[in-house]
Amino acid sequence: MEAVLRDGRSMAAEYAQVFGPGATGHVETIEEDGEVVSTCAWLRRDLVVGGLRLPVAFVGSVATRADQRCKGHGGEVVERAIARAAEQGAALALLWADESDWYQKRGWVPFGTENVFVVNGSNAFLLPDPEGVRPMQARDMPEVHELYCNHEARADRTLAETGAMLTTPGLRALVREVNGRLTGYACVGRGEDLAHCVHEWGGDPEDVLPIIAGHWEVTSAESDRLFVMVPESESAFTAYFTFIRSLGAKGILAMARIGDLGAVAKAFDELTPEGVDVKVVGDQSLSLTGPSGQITLSENETLLALCPPRGDKRVTQVVEAEIGVDLPMLPIEPYACGLDSI
Ligand SMILES: CC(C)(COP(=O)(O)OP(=O)(O)OC[C@H]1O[C@@H](n2cnc3c(N)ncnc32)[C@H](O)[C@@H]1OP(=O)(O)O)[C@@H](O)C(=O)NCCC(=O)NCCS
Repeated sequence: MEAVLRDGRSMAAEYAQVFGPGATGHVETIEEDGEVVSTCAWLRRDLVVGGLRLPVAFVGSVATRADQRCKGHGGEVVERAIARAAEQGAALALLWADESDWYQKRGWVPFGTENVFVVNGSNAFLLPDPEGVRPMQARDMPEVHELYCNHEARADRTLAETGAMLTTPGLRALVREVNGRLTGYACVGRGEDLAHCVHEWGGDPEDVLPIIAGHWEVTSAESDRLFVMVPESESAFTAYFTFIRSLGAKGILAMARIGDLGAVAKAFDELTPEGVDVKVVGDQSLSLTGPSGQITLSENETLLALCPPRGDKRVTQVVEAEIGVDLPMLPIEPYACGLDSI
């Protein structure tokens, strides 16, 4: 991984979930003549979305040695990760791709929504003053983790995992303290990625926006833009950035493949009203039967009904029309912060 993805520089410290002490991540490898020629990492996580816990795997750091490419090793090592994650109950595999074409050819599809807003010289002066904002310290971690856990849509983590992630090299974290209590935090940068990008934060807008102002004070000396990632579920932030006319884009959260279709069926069972029967048909389709009909969904249609890119509800609407019942809990809007990716 270091040879291919970092030109030989160290990257272990950036991925505490895989390489740190007590890490729960996994590494898959393909070897030839006793040497690793292709590899990737994966991590079992639960996505919490309202009352639902969706078991998933985050896959990443896919790398094939330059002299061993185009022999199918990359494809095979990723399939291995999906299969092993499915054995551990992962309904879906998710990844953040720089090269989405390669994954799309291998059945991965765009999944979910992530909004990105731009703070720059023309709107930064509208942010509230960074009052009470200071660098994060180790003793802040329990309160920071509590703020993280207040997100309605998040990847479930332990306090120790949040602590390990927030001490990643290259990460700048600020907190806001009001009357001795921590009311917000926000992080910029991660290793060689996410520079000049607020990729994880917690707290209400009145506490997080002053922290973003604090980050802007520092980053504006290095870059004329600071990006802020905002989950779709955080509408107060979206409304604020729209109000200050920040440039924004609605992008996708990740790329996805189905891991364990049975686990996906279980999620649909929880997300559909009583009287809707959800069944796996064969090994690649899902059948939903309601009061007035039945529909069979392919794996891609299943993903589009569960969590389409950019909140597109059309497949869910077709399902509703076919089976004759409203599905107010579908589609879901899960979220995972940049730090969760591997
Ligand atoms: C992407 C990568 C892992 C593919 O590994 P590989 O072992 O060559 O993979 P495969 O043999 O299964 O697939 C090779 C195919 O992908 C194509 N391909 C390679 N890189 C690609 C890219 N960036 N975009 C689209 N297609 C690409 C090849 O042309 C080949 O096509 P073919 O099957 O039609 O001949 C490898 O090129 C690599 O390590 N790249 C640098 C690291 C990287 O970008 N990793 C992904 C970050 S998550």
